[in-house]
Order: sequence, then structure tokens, then C-alpha cells
Amino acid sequence: MSGVTETQILNALKNVIDPDLRQDIVSLGFIKDLHIENGRVSFKIELTTPACPVKEKMRRQALDAVMEVANVQGVDIEMTAKVRHAQKKTPRNLLPGVKNVIAIASGKGGVGKSTTAVNLALALAQTGARTGILDADIYGPSLPKMLKIKDRPHPEEGKHIAPAEAFGLKVMSMGFFMDEETPVVWRGPMVGMAVEQLLRDVEWGELDYLVIDLPPGTGDAQLTLTQKVPITGVVIVSTPQDVALADVKRGINMFRKVDTPILGIIENMSYFLCPHCGHRSEIFSHGGARKQAEDFGLEFLGDIPLDGAIREDADSGIPILIAHPDSPQTQKYREIAARIAAIIATQGFEGSSFPQIVVE
Ligand SMILES: Nc1ncnc2c1ncn2[C@@H]1O[C@H](COP(=O)(O)OP(=O)(O)OP(=O)(O)O)[C@@H](O)[C@H]1O
Ligand SMILES: [Mg+2]
Repeated sequence: MSGVTETQILNALKNVIDPDLRQDIVSLGFIKDLHIENGRVSFKIELTTPACPVKEKMRRQALDAVMEVANVQGVDIEMTAKVRHAQKKTPRNLLPGVKNVIAIASGKGGVGKSTTAVNLALALAQTGARTGILDADIYGPSLPKMLKIKDRPHPEEGKHIAPAEAFGLKVMSMGFFMDEETPVVWRGPMVGMAVEQLLRDVEWGELDYLVIDLPPGTGDAQLTLTQKVPITGVVIVSTPQDVALADVKRGINMFRKVDTPILGIIENMSYFLCPHCGHRSEIFSHGGARKQAEDFGLEFLGDIPLDGAIREDADSGIPILIAHPDSPQTQKYREIAARIAAIIATQGFEGSSFPQIVVE
């Protein structure tokens, strides 16, 4: 009996295709530690992100494929993940332990960039990925309040600064070192320098994802930042009212000109979900970002409703992902985070495959 060979198993597994990478899981090198003993087959499937939305489906397909091989008595599959580096190799990488940097940007202020950044970071962290968040919005740092951080880091002369921790995230914010009462006037290059210092002097350790909440707008400051920081990809947040604005277009063109890939657009405060009956009303002409994304050849990553709970939870210092983990709004953030992780995983394999055309 037995007689099951590795080749038979691998051939069977070649029928399982990763929907994002559009290749079979054997060619992608996902199969690890394959053992066959008396017809019992065991192996690991090592995904590129723990946030993989099709994890369970893939396990099921692999199981079915192997069970069809003659003489197989049983199959034992362990799903694991190892996030791969997708960063451009910059000559001076300020973040050697950080595998992927996701920058959250917006054409203008107040569109919910920080709220989105925090909830997406938490969604990534909850999949088991080591995640940090950096508040690069030195004009109006909001993370200390949004994550209710009491224990601020205390920099010591000549030493790396340990980031604060909140809800499983490593957190660093300019707000930790600024006087809340004093408005700060920064010029673009100064922002870049300040943020560079935050990156260089902070002990991030090993991270799968570092989410950066960029300052609003897409001017000088943002430009400097993209040159200092090895950004894997940018996520643009916009609201239905501002998608059509020239600001967003300018932002997209700026990132493209400096060769920073744009992962896609999120429409925030997209529609209103009635807290009582769950009815969805389109208060503004919803769907503008989807259209905008299409026009620019960018991916539409999803929409997030205008929702009282999102605001209240953000204001209370316990983001909705923690305060209401089972809500439909939380589900939205989780889906978008999974999509972002999937795009980055694809990028890690193929290099930057994003269209880099500048739209006039
Ligand atoms: N989907 C949402 N539903 C309801 N309120 C929201 C939503 N997203 C954000 N908000 C609220 O909108 C306000 C602005 O959000 P936030 O601070 O995240 O925006 P921002 O783009 O980071 O602003 P800034 O440009 O000042 O940094 C906050 O009070 C926040 O709670
Ligand atoms: Mg903000």
C-alpha cells in the first residue's frame, strides 16, 4: 500500500490558484514541510499575509485536491503566513525591520484619514500581523487622543525611543512631543526632517506593516516624506463631496511622479447607515470615489459609512474596531485591510505593477 509520492501531491496542489496572485500555490512556493507517511500527508501553506481573506477557502481546496490522489489516507494542513518585503530598496533604509509601509493620504483635511488609518491598522494587527502606526500629521496629531494613550514615550539622550503601545499596535506620534496649546508652523522640508527623525530614532523592531497617517493635502510636506520614507503604497481617503476636487487629482499625480505606488482609494462617510433600522441612505452622490478610481486606473478599495458610532468611538479613545468588533462598520474596515494586504502581497511578488501614468 501507500505508494503516494511527493510529485503526486504537488501536482494535485498545482490546481489550487491564489486568486490575487493568479498563480498556483506550488509555483508560488507556498507549500512547506511536505511529509508523507503511510499515506498520511501533512504540509504547511505559507501565505504572504495573515490577513488573507481567502485563507479558509484555500485550505479547503488544497484538502480536496490532495484527498483525490489515490491511496491518500488523510491530510493535515497548517495555514501559516510570512509577510514578504515589498519595499523599494532605498539606498538608506530608515526602517530595516519594517516590511511594508502603508501611507494614508488625502487631498484635503477632515475627511477621516486618521480614523481610517487607526481602524485599518487595528484590523491588520488583529489578523496577527505585527503592526505599527505613525502619526506623521505634525500639524494636528490625533493618535494620542484617538488611542487614549496616557503613557507617553520618554526619549533619553542618545537612545532609541520605544513606541507607545495601544490595543496591540505600536504607536508613535509627533503629538507626544508637542505642546497641545501651541500651534506649530512647519515648512515642507521641516516636516520631512521631523518625520525622518521619528522613523530613525524610534525602536520599531520587527513589523509586518507600518501605517503612516500623513498630513492632509499633497503639498511640499508630503512630497518630502515620500522621498525620505520607503513607502510600499499609498491609500487615498476621500469623501463623496471632495472626490471630484482638483486636490485629489493633484495628489494622485504627485505620488505617481515620485514613483510611489497608489494602492487605491477609499470613500469615507460614503452613505448613512441608520443606527435604528440599518437603512442605508445615500446622502451625497455616493459612488464618486469608485468612478474617480476608474478614471485614474486605480483600485476602489471600498466605502465606509458616515456613522455616529465611528465618530463617538474615535472621540472616546476606543476605536470602533475594539469598541464594536462585530459591527458591520468594523467588518468594512476588516475587508478593506484584507484587500490592502492582498495587493501588497501581489506587489511583493511582481514588483510595482501599478500604472504610473500621470493624468492631466
Ligand atoms: N466614517 C465616519 N463616520 C462618522 N464620523 C467620522 C467617520 N470618519 C471620521 N469621522 C469623524 O470625522 C472627524 C474627522 O476625522 P479625522 O480626524 O479622522 O479626519 P482627518 O482626515 O484625519 O482630519 P485632519 O485632516 O484634521 O487630520 C472626526 O470627528 C471623526 O470622528
Ligand atoms: Mg488626521
